[in-house]
Order: sequence, then structure tokens, then C-alpha cells
Amino acid sequence: MLYDLKNLIDKLYQESYLNFQEITFLLENLDEENKKYLFQKSYSRRLENYGNTVFLRGLVEISSYCKMDCNYCGIRRSNRNAQRYRLTPEEILECCLKGYHLGFRTFVLQGGEDLWFTDEKLISIIAKIRENCPDAAITLSLGERTAESYQKLYRAGADRYLLRHETADENLYHSLHPGMNFHHRRECLRNLKEIGFQTGAGFLIGLPGQKVQDYAKDLLFLKELNPHMVGVGPFIPQKNTPLKDEMGGDVETTLIMLALVRLLLPHVLLPATTALGTIDPQGREKGFRAGANVIMPNLSPFENRAKYALYDGKKFQNDEAAEELQKIKENIAAAGFLAVMERGDNISWKRK
Ligand code: 5AD
Repeated sequence: MLYDLKNLIDKLYQESYLNFQEITFLLENLDEENKKYLFQKSYSRRLENYGNTVFLRGLVEISSYCKMDCNYCGIRRSNRNAQRYRLTPEEILECCLKGYHLGFRTFVLQGGEDLWFTDEKLISIIAKIRENCPDAAITLSLGERTAESYQKLYRAGADRYLLRHETADENLYHSLHPGMNFHHRRECLRNLKEIGFQTGAGFLIGLPGQKVQDYAKDLLFLKELNPHMVGVGPFIPQKNTPLKDEMGGDVETTLIMLALVRLLLPHVLLPATTALGTIDPQGREKGFRAGANVIMPNLSPFENRAKYALYDGKKFQNDEAAEELQKIKENIAAAGFLAVMERGDNISWKRK
């Protein structure tokens, strides 16, 4: 044994850092006993920084049109079978208002890269949400845009931006994202941070050919970027995509990654993703115990939810539906956590 696993986990807890060799060693050798110890440590770190709270965000999926062609994604451009829809600015505002009345104080506007949403349109949508929901945070998740565009959206009043880096291995990235550029995506993330957004990066788990070394790169990229939010979830194969027959990610690996992200970035806002809740009915609760502290119930109009099909079996009912707020809160409480509707900013962020 090159390292003692327990010592490595203690070091990670104390220093919020492990190097490439240490992370790969940990991932290759983690046994049941040390896995438990890892979760114990990541759970303590979560409690120290955010107590037992879980922040709720209202998710509005604004468009299933996308000009990109990511091999794993159900709304990729080449998927002729994808059902396309686009919410009007009025519908987007209505969703936010509905969420606002339910008590949500963060709205996440997510969509494919849809050219209809020009800066002007988005600025006017953001302004309307700002006006009607003055104390709510506005999060955007609309893919790669220019630095100038991000700057305008920030000035218009958006607070946060989610853009997963998807994978930190350049070859794997290029094999999955035809026509996209690995360096450009990272550049976007640096621009978002520089502008002042609470910035979210993140990666997929269980991609075809993904190795322990790739996860180590993902984790170290996150450590270096130091984002305010991180989204990690299992890849789930989607019919009508080139990866339809692949395996997909598993719960255990996802939980280990959540734990490592929590320990590397102690203040991070870390969702227990819908994808995790999709592959395991208890996935979200397991996620909270591994260090996750956010969930994003769906506020999109009912008739569109099934159409935003990034992957097969995607949940949008019951615990994933914002209308079931009471049930969601009860389930969170039953797992020993406290659902919180406040904005829930990253504790080390201030608007500039
Ligand atoms: N399985 C899991 N997650 C997916 N995403 C896209 N397609 C899939 C899939 N098949 C994720 C991507 C993207 C986020 C919005 O959804 O990581 O960044």
C-alpha cells in the first residue's frame, strides 16, 4: 500500500486537498470501511458549513431546442425524435411567479443552447423576474455564450450561472462533444467567475471509457476553478442518442464523488441531482448524507416536462415536482434534514 486510506481521508478533511496520485489511489483502493469513513467526514464538513439544511431551487426548463450535439443528451440537435418546445417570456415569468408564491427564492432557468434567446430577450426576462420577485436569486443554465453576453446578463440581475465542464479529460470531452471545444468551455467558466456570477461547474459519472484518472482530473479542475456550485450526477443512457446502449453511472460512484467534492470545496452548494434520484429512489437522501445540500424541484409547465428528456426515465413528478412541496419537505425532514426556501447563496459570495 502506497498510502494509508484513513490517513488520506483525514488529510483531505484537514487540508481540503489531495494531489492527483492521492486521489487516484483513494478511488482505486477504497474499501467498505474507508468508504464509510469518507462519508462520515464529508457529512461533518457539510454540517459545519450549512448545518442540516437543504436549499430548494425552482427549476424552469425554458427550451428543448439546442444547437449542440452532445452524444449523451436527449435534446441534442441530431435527435429527430426529440420533442421541441420553447416557453414564451410570459410563460417563464408565470412559472417563476407560481414558484414565488410557493415560497421559492431561487429560480433556475435552464435550457438547450437555443438561439431564440438573444441577450435582449434574456435581459428583459431577467428584469421582469427581478421586478416581480425582488428577493429571489436568478440562476441561468443556458450553455456557452460570449463574455460580453454573460456580462450583460449579470448586469441585468442574474446572480448565478451553471455550466458543467462535463469531463476534465480533453480526449473524452472531444469524443462526446462533436464540434465543441474543451478549452472554450473552461474559458466560459473562468469568464463567468471573473464577471462575478456564483458559478457552477460539474461533471458526469459513468461515461463510456471514463477512468479513475479522469475523475481525479475532474476533481482537481474543480479545486483549481473553485466554483460556488458543483453539479455531479450519473450519466443515464437516452434512447435515440449514440450512447443509448452504454452502461451509465452508478449510485456508489456518484456518492463518492459528492463526498470528495464536499471535502475539496467545503463551502460549495452541491445538489443531489434529479439524475441521482432517477437511478435510485433513495438517491437524494443518500446524497445529502454524502455532502449534498441542494435540490431543484421542477417548476416547468406540466405539458412540457416530458419533453425536456435529457435522459430516459427522468423524474419530474412527485419528489421532483415543485407542486409537491409539502411532500418534498416531509421527505427531507424524514431523512433528518431541514428544507430551506431562502436564496441560499454560497457563504463566501458577495455581489460585485
Ligand atoms: N444523463 C445524465 N445527465 C445528462 N445531462 C445531459 N444528458 C444527460 C444524460 N444522458 C446533463 C449534462 C448537462 C445537464 C444539464 O444535464 O451534464 O450539463
